[in-house]
Amino acid sequence: MREEIISLLKKSCPAPLSGEVIAQHLGISRTAVWKNIHALQEKGYIITGSPRRGYLLQKIPDLLYPGELSEKLHTKVIAPGSSFIHHYHRVGSTNNVLKEMAEKGAPEGTVVVAELQETGRGRMGRNWSSPEGKGIYLSLLLRPPVSPQHTSPLTLLAAVAACCGISSVSSRFSPGIKWPNDLLIGGRKVCGILCEIKAEIDLVHYFVAGIGINVNMGPEDFPPELRQTATSLLLENEGAAVSRLGVAAGVLQHFDELYANYLEKGTDAVLPRWLEHNITLGRSVRIQGPGFSFAGTARELDDNGALVVESESGERKSFTAGEVIMK
Ligand code: BTN
Repeated sequence: MREEIISLLKKSCPAPLSGEVIAQHLGISRTAVWKNIHALQEKGYIITGSPRRGYLLQKIPDLLYPGELSEKLHTKVIAPGSSFIHHYHRVGSTNNVLKEMAEKGAPEGTVVVAELQETGRGRMGRNWSSPEGKGIYLSLLLRPPVSPQHTSPLTLLAAVAACCGISSVSSRFSPGIKWPNDLLIGGRKVCGILCEIKAEIDLVHYFVAGIGINVNMGPEDFPPELRQTATSLLLENEGAAVSRLGVAAGVLQHFDELYANYLEKGTDAVLPRWLEHNITLGRSVRIQGPGFSFAGTARELDDNGALVVESESGERKSFTAGEVIMK
């Protein structure tokens, strides 16, 4: 009902719409219209009302409400309708919420977004700083009909989708991808991706891609230990706020298109796109993870998206996981 009222007010803009017209249109009483308008105001919509002219929508809040996000999408698999998008003000981790939904049979394309994560999770067991209303904390559910060993391109695909989504809101933003899926602007991290999978040896039950983007954080919104290494779109935009709705919709739209190509053509559809945004290959790197550390030059990605690093002595090793430190 509220989504319908918002939609009527948007269509009428910049002219106000009387409570009576809305009531007739939706088959409800004028009191019910008033109550819903009040609820929408509570949700952050700025709607002014005058007894003679009616209601006027002045401003849409930059919150990741399903109706607002969905209106910007033309997707086939990822959130093909607003009912696929689940919005929360506060969660522990959107990945955890979505994994629970996946266990209960949520369909492919389900999306969870939150305004605040209390225990946002990063790769390698790290935390993901998730202050309220400043970033995008988004997880999406895939059920790809491939064997688990063919899902590694999806982590690269998620990075390309995030990169394209961010670039789509302004030509000022041109992030690069540090293998496998960190997005950096000017050497500082603006987006991180945590992919989680539940699978049997030859069957994927579900794949969750969790995307965190620093959108409107000022320096004070980052914990002190991240201030030198993290950035946000606001900081890269001379302090001007950036539409979280626009960025989130851009990421979902690009994800949908890339995923359709991946399902049709496999890894071949992903790697060239990743390479367009790559800032890792050709660089001197150290790659490390639990129990290993290897230094050399990042040479190439193999057919599965593993990173091939060549040491000074010419020894070449492929890595399917790990943290890359660029020198
Ligand atoms: C990293 O670079 O370490 C990955 C960060 C991933 C953060 C996102 S925010 C949405 C989703 N929910 C989580 O708890 N983590 C991911």
